Amino acid sequence: MTDDEKARLIEAARSARETAYAKYSHYRVGAAVLADDGAIYPGCNVENAAYPQGTCAEAGAIAAMALGGARTIRGVAVAGGKADTQPEDDPWGLASPCGGCRQRIAEFSKASVPVIIVTPHEVMLETTVGALLPHAFNLQE
Ligand code: THU
Repeated sequence: MTDDEKARLIEAARSARETAYAKYSHYRVGAAVLADDGAIYPGCNVENAAYPQGTCAEAGAIAAMALGGARTIRGVAVAGGKADTQPEDDPWGLASPCGGCRQRIAEFSKASVPVIIVTPHEVMLETTVGALLPHAFNLQE
């Protein structure tokens, strides 16, 4: 992933966060995946009055990627946190992908694929798919 792709990926996740439908938790999340076709696919969380029906931002981004015809992820950015709060004051600051989304991401990624976790203010953590989900379930191996 180039520096330019990384910057565009982060911007796409932050922009997607603005569109989130987080009526119940009030915690907006945006995600974006960079695919091997060079496109960046964004998604946001979409909640529901029947709470378990809500979907994570990562799920939306992966659905958009599949719809676009891509099948391989080269990079992931996830944006959470509150725009009006500085990270050091914000206990919700780290929008680390949930367990289910780690498995969703791993389905389309090598272990070395970078995952960048950001707030509206700054980059919080740069890690990899393999670090987030070691020994991932995989039917092919
Ligand atoms: N959420 C995501 O969109 N991605 C994650 O990886 C963690 C959680 C959403 C789900 C719910 O709408 C809100 O954040 C609060 O849990």
